[in-house]
Amino acid sequence: FMKIILSAKIPYNRLKADAFVVPLFKGEKESAYVLPASIKKLVAIVIASKEFQGGAMETQALHVAGGVARVCLLGLGEKRECTLDSVQRAYGTAIMRLKKMKAKSVILLVREDAVKDKAVADIVGAVALGARIAHYVTHHYKGKKKKEVQRVGRITLLINHRGPTSVQRSDLKTSQYALRRAEVIADGLDFVRYIADSPANYATPNYIAESAKEIGKKIPGLTVTVLDKKQIEKEKMGGLLAVAQGSQHEPRFVICEYHGHLAHGQGAHGCKPIVLVGKGITFDTGGISLKPWNKMEEMKFDMAGGAAVIATVAIAARLKFPVHVVGLVPLAENMPSHTAYKPGDVITISDGTTVEILTTDAEGRMVLADGLSYAKKYKPSVIVDVATLTGAIVAALSDYATGLFTGDDALATTLERLGKETGDRVWRMPMPKAWADHLKSPVADLRQVPSVRLADAIMAALFLKNFVDAKTPWVHLDNAGTAWKTEGYPYAESGATGAPVQLLVRWLDEVSRQR
Ligand code: BES
Ligand code: ZN
Ligand code: ZN
Repeated sequence: FMKIILSAKIPYNRLKADAFVVPLFKGEKESAYVLPASIKKLVAIVIASKEFQGGAMETQALHVAGGVARVCLLGLGEKRECTLDSVQRAYGTAIMRLKKMKAKSVILLVREDAVKDKAVADIVGAVALGARIAHYVTHHYKGKKKKEVQRVGRITLLINHRGPTSVQRSDLKTSQYALRRAEVIADGLDFVRYIADSPANYATPNYIAESAKEIGKKIPGLTVTVLDKKQIEKEKMGGLLAVAQGSQHEPRFVICEYHGHLAHGQGAHGCKPIVLVGKGITFDTGGISLKPWNKMEEMKFDMAGGAAVIATVAIAARLKFPVHVVGLVPLAENMPSHTAYKPGDVITISDGTTVEILTTDAEGRMVLADGLSYAKKYKPSVIVDVATLTGAIVAALSDYATGLFTGDDALATTLERLGKETGDRVWRMPMPKAWADHLKSPVADLRQVPSVRLADAIMAALFLKNFVDAKTPWVHLDNAGTAWKTEGYPYAESGATGAPVQLLVRWLDEVSRQR
């Protein structure tokens, strides 16, 4: 657990840290922050040598004498191309590098004028979020050989230096809030990453459900209810039960609800909630339609959508967004066994729809069918589902963007814009109406997958569409390509990324401001 400290107006000779990060744009020769002459000279030599050019996410650590052990130059790239997202990534990169250098205390000099038309507080928020994302480390399970966990222990943001913009007292107040907000979002991302990184023998359906309950106990206004197997049977959630029936671990169905209110007592969107539904497959072996072994271990991340939903509702509650939001997460493990569901089985979803199973590896849509059906109870104003649903979306978009499917052009435009702003991008995919015919089954209401190999990601979206009321605006987000990064990023460790939590939080924030 780490708290970031915000401070202002500290001269260099009073700084004490293992590293002091000094941001520079491409082509800039010196920092506006007043550095001692000797260090200024050193920086000038490095820049003249072209070993550091200020390119985006470039870093150069210089060992110096005094209270500051290292001055770390940080490139922000071309000034006119700088965005909140690029600032976030750049500062994150600095923390990642310094973490590897075993720096324990780091001071980040905030570049208040980094992004055109953005307030100091916005920059502070981006720097803090970038720092926290870089600060996260995957949990290790070392029994015999203890691994030394390398983490920065103390991060300070320094603002209000004698820069090109003068920072006001009110900026400090808004910056303090932006910092807290970034920390709340980062806590949510930490939760998603921790749960998705956790091995599936630890993060079982019950474990994740209990974690959600614990979060509910800690956050005022957030209610978390968990349906156990008996209650899931009572709800006739045939899809969730079918997927879970091959595993020793019972399914769970998590319901988290936060009913935020505006100052005058009215919840945003009236009382009709925004319902988020997340895929919670704790491990996807493929079931009887077993996956090949190569990279199968990564299928422990197949609950990343579900965890993102829990985190988003928790963040909305902690930040007291005036919005009514409900998160639904069906949790199950997809295993092959003598009790497992099989191709050819006909399964009845809780809304009465029957589905002919063709591959037990298309389990995500089965549990989501029950989740989306359950959402109808709330008469939602909007439904958004998040699921690591298809390998096809990985092939199409990789980690560039989360696949977005919707018939609602306005929602698509909004989410595309917010995706660009947060860097938690989405890319809209088509949902050709005529293709729905490919899901006709001779024995059931629906085939689970088409008989001919079509675009899997699109067909999955068209399958889900059957479980949403045509009048309810609905967005399906396929984050199979964005929720996991095997190699990691310069600004984040390998493994789970937390996508698309940043996007969803930003969207809920905007929705609650509009009403
Ligand atoms: N969890 C997988 C999707 C996935 C695959 C995510 C690869 C990340 C990497 C999902 O349950 C699945 O297996 N989908 C199948 C669907 C197919 C059988 C129509 C797929 O994509 O192969
Ligand atoms: Zn699968
Ligand atoms: Zn899956």
